[in-house]
Amino acid sequence: ISLSFSLFLLINLAAVVSAADRFSRDDFPPGFVFGSGTSAYQVEGAADQEGRKPSIWDTLTHDGKMHGDNADIACDQYHKFKEDIQLMVETGLEAYRFSVSWSRLIPNGRGLVNPKGLQYYNNLINELISNGIQPHVTLHHSDLPQALEDEYGGWINRKIVYDFTTYADVCFRMFGDKVSHWTTVNEANVFVLEGYDTGFLQPQHCSSPFGVNCTRGNSSTEPYLATHHILLAHASAAVLYKEKYQDKQHGFIGINLFAYWLVPLTNTTEDAIAFQRAMDFLIGWYLDPLIYGDNPDVMKRNVGTRLPTFTNLESNQVKGSFDFLGVNYYSTSYVKDDPSKLEMEVKDFIVDMAVDFKSMTIIQKDSSTSKFTLTPWGLQGLLENFKQVYGNPPIYIHENGQPTQHNSSMEDWPRVKYLYGHIGALLHALRNGSNTKGYFQWSFLDVFEMLDGFESSFGLYCVDLDDPDLKRQPKLSAHWYKHFLKRKGVNS
Ligand code: NOJ
Repeated sequence: ISLSFSLFLLINLAAVVSAADRFSRDDFPPGFVFGSGTSAYQVEGAADQEGRKPSIWDTLTHDGKMHGDNADIACDQYHKFKEDIQLMVETGLEAYRFSVSWSRLIPNGRGLVNPKGLQYYNNLINELISNGIQPHVTLHHSDLPQALEDEYGGWINRKIVYDFTTYADVCFRMFGDKVSHWTTVNEANVFVLEGYDTGFLQPQHCSSPFGVNCTRGNSSTEPYLATHHILLAHASAAVLYKEKYQDKQHGFIGINLFAYWLVPLTNTTEDAIAFQRAMDFLIGWYLDPLIYGDNPDVMKRNVGTRLPTFTNLESNQVKGSFDFLGVNYYSTSYVKDDPSKLEMEVKDFIVDMAVDFKSMTIIQKDSSTSKFTLTPWGLQGLLENFKQVYGNPPIYIHENGQPTQHNSSMEDWPRVKYLYGHIGALLHALRNGSNTKGYFQWSFLDVFEMLDGFESSFGLYCVDLDDPDLKRQPKLSAHWYKHFLKRKGVNS
C-alpha cells in the first residue's frame, strides 16, 4: 500500500512542485515540530456537562447565528479524546494544539475551579504525553466565559486583566509541569475585529453601518479598547509565568495573531504606503507594542485619542512579553490605496477575503473555487517581513489549512496540494533564515467552523455527524500528512 501510495502522490504532486523542490520531513531543522490543532469550543462538545457553563461562543450559536448550528456536541472530544489521540499517534503527530475552555475550568470566569474540568484537562494532557505528543495549549480561543461578559463587559473592561491572569495562574499551576508551550490568546486581532467591529462573531459588539445585526457596542472605540486589554492581559500572564513558573517548568509562552500576506496591487507609491498601513493596522497593532512597546505611528495619527496609550509601566510589561509568536496564515490578498478610508473596516473579513480597511482596500485578485487562494509564496513573504521588520522572532505557524465543503469528497486533493505547497514554502523560508520553530495544520478533525458552523471543514479526519458514534474517517490529506511525517529521509 505504501509503495503505490507513494507513486500516487508522486505523480499527482509533480503538478505542484518540480522534482528539485521536493522535500521530506528530514529537511527541517532539529527540534522543528509538526502537529495539528483544534480548539475547545470547536471540538469538545459536552457543552453543559460536568459543570461547564456557557462562553460567549455558546451564546452566539444559540442566538442562531451560525446557520442554526451549534457545538453542543461538536466532535465530542470530551468523551473521545483517547480515541482521537490514537489517531494522532497513527498520523505521526509530534504535537497537538488545543485550547482550554475557561468556562469549563472556572465556570463563572472567576472564583471556584471545577474539579471535573481540572480532571479532563489533566487526563487529556497525560494521555498526550504518554503517547509522545507535545501539548501546545491556548488559554483563550474566542470563548470568554459568558459570566464575565454579563458581569462587566468582558474584554472591554480592564477588570479582565486580573481575571485572565488568575485563570492563567490556575492553568500554569495545575498543568504547567507537562505543558511545553502556552499561547495566551488565539487570533487576538481577528477576535477583536469580528467581535467588536463587524459584530459578525462573539461577543457581537459593533455599530452600524458595517455591523451584522448590530445592536450594541461602538466599533469606533471598542476594538482598540479590547486590544489594549488583551495586550495587558497577555503581558500580565506572561510576566507571571516567567517570574513564577518558567524556571521550574521550562516551558514557553506566546500570543497568536492572524496574518495575511499582503501585496500592493500596483507599483505606485500610494499602494506601497497602503500596504504598510494595512500591515500596521492588522499586525503592527499587536506586534509594535509587543516588540517595541508602543503603537504604530500611523495608528496614533489616524485613530487619535480613541487609541488607548500605554503608560511607561505598561509599555515595559508588554514589550518583550513573549517567547514566541503564533501565526495563523491562510492566504494572500492585494492592497489598493483608498485615501477616503483612514482606519479599518472589516466588512466580510475572511468570509470572502475581500477586506476593506478604512485606509485602503484589500482585494482578491485571483478567483478560486475554494475559499482560500493557494498562495504558498505568501507565507514566505510574511515570514520575510517578520524577519526584516520585527527582528525575526521565534514563530510557530499555528494554523494553516484549506476548507472544503463538509462531507464532500474524502479524496481532498485541494487540501493535499495546499499543505504540500505551504510546508514547502515554509522550508524555503527557513533556508532564508526564518526563525520558525513549528507548523500546525488546521484542523485535525472536521471541527465546528468559526464562520461556517458545519458547512465547511478543514479536517484531516472527517467526522460523520449522522453517525451516533461520530465516526472519524481519514481523508486523503490524513494519509498524506502521515506519509510525510513518517517517511523520514525519503523524498515525498
Ligand atoms: C481561525 C481560528 O483560530 C479557528 O478557530 C478557525 O476554525 C480557523 N481559523 C479557520 O477559519
